[in-house]
Amino acid sequence: MNDIKTLGEFIIERQKEFNDADGNLSKLLSSIKLATKIVNREVSKAGLVDILGTAGEENIQGEEQQKLDVFANSRFIEALRTRKVVCGVASEENDDFIAFDKDCYDGKYVVLMDPLDGSSNIDVNVSIGTIFSVYKRVSPIGGPVQLEDFLQPGINQVAAGYVLYGSSTMLVYTTGCGVNGFTIDPSLGTLYLSHPNMTAPKEGKIYSVNEANYNSFTPGLKEYINYCRDSEVKKPYTARYIGSLIADFHRNLVKGGVYMYPQTASAPNGKLRLLYESNPLAFIIEQAGGKASDGKQRIMEIEPTELHQRSPLIIGSANMVDKVLSYTKN
Ligand code: AHG
Ligand code: MN
Ligand code: MN
Repeated sequence: MNDIKTLGEFIIERQKEFNDADGNLSKLLSSIKLATKIVNREVSKAGLVDILGTAGEENIQGEEQQKLDVFANSRFIEALRTRKVVCGVASEENDDFIAFDKDCYDGKYVVLMDPLDGSSNIDVNVSIGTIFSVYKRVSPIGGPVQLEDFLQPGINQVAAGYVLYGSSTMLVYTTGCGVNGFTIDPSLGTLYLSHPNMTAPKEGKIYSVNEANYNSFTPGLKEYINYCRDSEVKKPYTARYIGSLIADFHRNLVKGGVYMYPQTASAPNGKLRLLYESNPLAFIIEQAGGKASDGKQRIMEIEPTELHQRSPLIIGSANMVDKVLSYTKN
């Protein structure tokens, strides 16, 4: 019989490996585990209960929020607040960061997150996700969290992960010692280690990009896409684009592929947010042996200046990212 391991057991087992002597990062990961289960329960009944539709507010990017975005946002924030190991959270759904009260001032960590990624896919029963990124604060412990705690380059991340609410619900994360994936058994609500030591194939056949934006891509990127096209005749490539970053990213991580959300004429920095979309996925893909670039530099080396700043993103199998860059870098 295979060795069955739950996420809870795994976190404790690996505690030493990621230098978590006081167990605080383990507590943080446990609170994410709890929120994942609660949000998963709501996501899976989204078609049954009257939870669909918009909440009537717009987030800072001017996008319409859906009710599940708001629900997921509050569940993750509350789960993180109660363990008192996090001093503040920044989220796609909040214009400013959330500073936790005095009882959390001793928290060493901050979390940045996209609580519900792919929200346009909620009411059509297509996979969606949650993304999170964890840093050690740089402001003194014992006081309130500061903006500078959130504006750190991705290389400072101590953990990052995502939840994919798909045909199965999975939580995938890294603490800088490889990437591991856990799948929920829906009857028990338990997350089991299902994908130990995930590695991104060096090569792949899949390219993922919103080709409706083709006309406003740079000449180099157009050339790369033309190189991938015509696969029946000369090349092995195939296009896959779900429109949920997490679903596209996860498929490419498992099968090999490259995901691109480049700059366009109307969006010079692309669409995705550096701090809670690009950076956490960059950390994961690098830990799995892949690469992530904004077209000019490694994603994780970008020095952020704003909470909600955007970055172009080219991410996935190492050789495929290199190939894209060989077309776009001139
Ligand atoms: P979110 O739902 O958090 O706003 O993110 C949506 C993102 C991402 O998930 C997806 O890859 C991308 O938007 C799709 O954008 P386009 O529709 O422009 O292709
Ligand atoms: Mn998103
Ligand atoms: Mn979102």
